[in-house]
Amino acid sequence: MIEVHNLVKHYGSVKAVDDISLTVDKGEILGFLGPNAAGKTTTMRIITGYMPASAGTVKVAGFDVFEQGLEVKKRIGYLPENPPLYPDMRVRDYLKFTARIKGVHPKTINAEVDRVAARLSVIEVMDNHISKLSKGYKQRVGFAQALLNNPPVLILDEPTNGLDPRQIIEVREIIKSLGSDHTVILSTHILPEVSMTCNRVAIINEGKLVKIDTPDNLTMQLQGSESIILQIEGPVTEIESALSQHNSVTAVAVQPNSKDNIATYKVEAAIGSDIRKELAALVVNRGWGLLELKSETLSLEDIFLRLTTKEEEVN
Ligand SMILES: Nc1ncnc2c1ncn2[C@@H]1O[C@H](COP(=O)(O)OP(=O)(O)O)[C@@H](O)[C@H]1O
Ligand SMILES: [Mg+2]
Repeated sequence: MIEVHNLVKHYGSVKAVDDISLTVDKGEILGFLGPNAAGKTTTMRIITGYMPASAGTVKVAGFDVFEQGLEVKKRIGYLPENPPLYPDMRVRDYLKFTARIKGVHPKTINAEVDRVAARLSVIEVMDNHISKLSKGYKQRVGFAQALLNNPPVLILDEPTNGLDPRQIIEVREIIKSLGSDHTVILSTHILPEVSMTCNRVAIINEGKLVKIDTPDNLTMQLQGSESIILQIEGPVTEIESALSQHNSVTAVAVQPNSKDNIATYKVEAAIGSDIRKELAALVVNRGWGLLELKSETLSLEDIFLRLTTKEEEVN
């Protein structure tokens, strides 16, 4: 449904988007996950046709964003980081106005406005001025305008940003329910959000696509790189040095226990290796006492930190 090829965007000397390629299938919810300034908003603006790229191509439903921008805009509902709300307008008038701009047939405008208002539960504020709405309602009105004319593709930029916890849960439920009949890209810098709402996650950092996979696969792929915790009885310096010398070990942190000669070693191993057996053998062969060995499963949060802070070790 969405095909992005080798997308690049420069702002002067800043490379905000650096050669991003990805595809989103129909009905999928893809999460852009990355820290601030990663390039998420810029990528979304280009996909929606609101900004030209420096290089690369984007197709939505088979239409080229740069050559057939109108066809693309018709098919995309866009919720920008700061929704374009007119504070002096009443919610109903704003939605009707937006529906007209989006080309909803005049005869069906009222029904369409009612439909999106019901979906986003904003019916009770339809006659209020937008300036008087709470942040949560403003966000829902912004969301409602994105759904007008029922576009098959939704691009949602930080849709839960600034909402309170209850509103966040509501918005996530709305997004999940939309996924059944829309193709969605949403951005967030909040990890739990992607595992809760998305089928796939694109991790973006410094303009680059670091990884793209399902939340489960991201966790699985890196399970070979989990930290291994060993409790060993024996000479601390020798043990630390022996562990460090293993080919796949990238770091060893020692935490001495209160009892003499026993210490806890946290071993970080290279991506893709599972060296638990080898470490156990190493310890036993040297005649040290292996009291405990366990692996620490990475949460998506750990993975994200690794991907964005130690990118070169991943690739
Ligand atoms: N209009 C702009 N002019 C100049 N630089 C920009 C502009 N918009 C974004 N940038 C820069 O591009 C980079 C990516 O920004 P952005 O796409 O907003 O990231 P994100 O949405 O992931 O926080 C940042 O370094 C940001 O400062
Ligand atoms: Mg942004």
